[in-house]
Amino acid sequence: MSTSHRRARSRREFLKAAGCLTSAALLGPRFAWGQAGKIKIGLMLPYTGTYAALGSAITNGFKLAVAEHGGKLGGRDLDYFTVDDESDPAKAPENTNKLVQRDKVDVLIGTVHSGVALGMVKVARETGTLLIIPNAGAAAATGELCAPNIFRTSFTNWQTGYPMGKVVVDRGFKNAVTLTWKYAAGEESVGGFGEGLTKAGGKVVKELWVPFPQVEFQALLTQIASLKPDAVYTFFAGAGAVKFVKDYAAAGLKGKIPLFGSGFLTDGVLEAQGEAAQGLETTLHYGDGIDTPRNKSFRDAYSKAYKAEPDVYAVQGYDTGLLLSVGLDAVRGDVNKKNELIAALEKTRIDSPRGTWTLSKAHNPIQDIYLRKVVGTQNKVTGVAYKALEDPARGCNMKKT
Ligand code: BEZ
Repeated sequence: MSTSHRRARSRREFLKAAGCLTSAALLGPRFAWGQAGKIKIGLMLPYTGTYAALGSAITNGFKLAVAEHGGKLGGRDLDYFTVDDESDPAKAPENTNKLVQRDKVDVLIGTVHSGVALGMVKVARETGTLLIIPNAGAAAATGELCAPNIFRTSFTNWQTGYPMGKVVVDRGFKNAVTLTWKYAAGEESVGGFGEGLTKAGGKVVKELWVPFPQVEFQALLTQIASLKPDAVYTFFAGAGAVKFVKDYAAAGLKGKIPLFGSGFLTDGVLEAQGEAAQGLETTLHYGDGIDTPRNKSFRDAYSKAYKAEPDVYAVQGYDTGLLLSVGLDAVRGDVNKKNELIAALEKTRIDSPRGTWTLSKAHNPIQDIYLRKVVGTQNKVTGVAYKALEDPARGCNMKKT
């Protein structure tokens, strides 16, 4: 050993004995000063209620991506802080503040419900905490409320509805009735569908609504039967989607008035919907049968880890892990290097099971939207309804610091 090495070693030993070196410094150059502990990840998702399965699939997907990175992101272990948001927008500010103020998380991940996500967005904007939205499609999050520290790995509600308008007209249907939950996701999904439909020469003749998370559809289905539109477009997800698809068939409408939807109608719920879902066509940024080695390896790894088939929500959770790992690797786990972290996230290309996607200037995925058809227990991809679709991000004025 050279004299200079010996001197350096004895200085390190002295500092260590004196308690002056953090364990990070002792671990080697990959770790940043003051960043020795675990990275605190706040998972705010629904684990009860109509969207419970969606929250679990996102969590599983995220943890699978982390496991594939050796259990670390940016070279650091993770500490999870989990909150069940119950898909209740009224509780969103308090729940988010628990994670940010009490648990002092470094990164917020959530959520499924658009209304709850907007509560998280508010806190993220006030505190500067990095927020990654792994599902909720509320336009404002990457629209008028967009911010440098807010990212989304999923979609906007508009993105999954808009392409279906043209599909419906191409099938020869002009007059459509829409039926959905009365909150941002439903409103924006049918809004996107209506825009696409009108542009293609069709018309929404009636909009029907039900409060979230109610699933009493009988009176509305009777109304549809008497309106006799060419087609029906709907947004429902999770347990609500199971009930709606079954009720639609039980009311004798299946086979009489074609039902279309954004793909949440049939994703992750086909076992429960059974025969009632067969043949339904939907548009979404994922499909079980995407025939690529990337999708196959993801599906194999997920089903091995969780003894369950993945769905779109699992993919979004997984991609959240992929995105965050790129950002944290770029700053070697130093979450305080916010600007560098954000810059790395912004230029990422995610090699996802859904296909490669990039982020728009508003921090929302630019991605292909697939046309899918239910065959057995699969949402089979039958085509691309819209290539590399970017949300218009109306009102986004990204103010860089
Ligand atoms: C939403 O609230 O944005 C949403 C919920 C479930 C599936 C898709 C979107």
